[in-house]
Amino acid sequence: MAAATARMTAPAVRARKGSKPPLVMVTAYDAPSARTVDAAGVDMILVGDSLAMVVLGYDDTLQVSTDDMAHHVGAVARTRPDALVVADLPWLSYHVSREETVHNAAALIRAGAGAVKLEGGGKRIDAVRAILDAEIPVMGHIGLTPQSIHALGGFKVQGKELEAAQALTDDAVALADAGCFAIVLECVPDAVARMITETVPVPTIGIGAGRHCDGQVLVWHDLLGFEAPGHRRPKFVRAYAAFERDAAMAIERFCADVRAGSFPSSAETYHMTDRMAEALGLYGATGVAEPELTQ
Ligand code: KIV
Repeated sequence: MAAATARMTAPAVRARKGSKPPLVMVTAYDAPSARTVDAAGVDMILVGDSLAMVVLGYDDTLQVSTDDMAHHVGAVARTRPDALVVADLPWLSYHVSREETVHNAAALIRAGAGAVKLEGGGKRIDAVRAILDAEIPVMGHIGLTPQSIHALGGFKVQGKELEAAQALTDDAVALADAGCFAIVLECVPDAVARMITETVPVPTIGIGAGRHCDGQVLVWHDLLGFEAPGHRRPKFVRAYAAFERDAAMAIERFCADVRAGSFPSSAETYHMTDRMAEALGLYGATGVAEPELTQ
């Protein structure tokens, strides 16, 4: 397994603009997912507000609070990953006032993040500046911004028309000018992602934005095929495993072993000494023959 050698930082990500290999970011929400993505050598771990949907079972990302996010950022950060931990500022945590915005960003940093991400372009520049003033690195996120699902009318590809593509480019330029160290481009045509990538001086990280970005991000559950039956996989997701199916198969085998009496075996059991068993009047009770395991 590839292992990153030094801890990644926001300035180090910024410095990778235009260089190869592309940057890699994967989401994680707890210690096991953080350990697996860091051991695989990603550059950044995103504790995304996709948490609401892929972990907590909500239909959209609007249901998580800063406290929810901090709880999961803490679990990821306690694994001490080499990758940069980027934490999503959830909906309404940076929309009300400069003070609230900075306090919420600080809560995620205190929980262990090395940077925060927020959604939106031009109209979020004040929030970006306020957070940067508190010395917290900010990643932008434009295109399909799931926190705007009601305003956008659903999870739809953005920037398909000329004017919308130009507006996205203006948003990206505004975020870069304000000081964002990288920008996520979600669900935009590849030509638009390319135009933005060639325009801004900071790395673009694509998801459903084609190959002409400075990096790519996928959600842990999508990448590993951890999806509910009947789930419609978006075309930009490549699943490298079938975790949900494999996990269910493993648990089915456990059920079968328990029901057949073959779990636990003697080797999976704590035994007392014969002398103690004898003293308790249990002599012979520990010497039962082991049933065959199913595998
Ligand atoms: O919340 C999230 O997982 C994200 C990615 C889809 C970029 O924002």
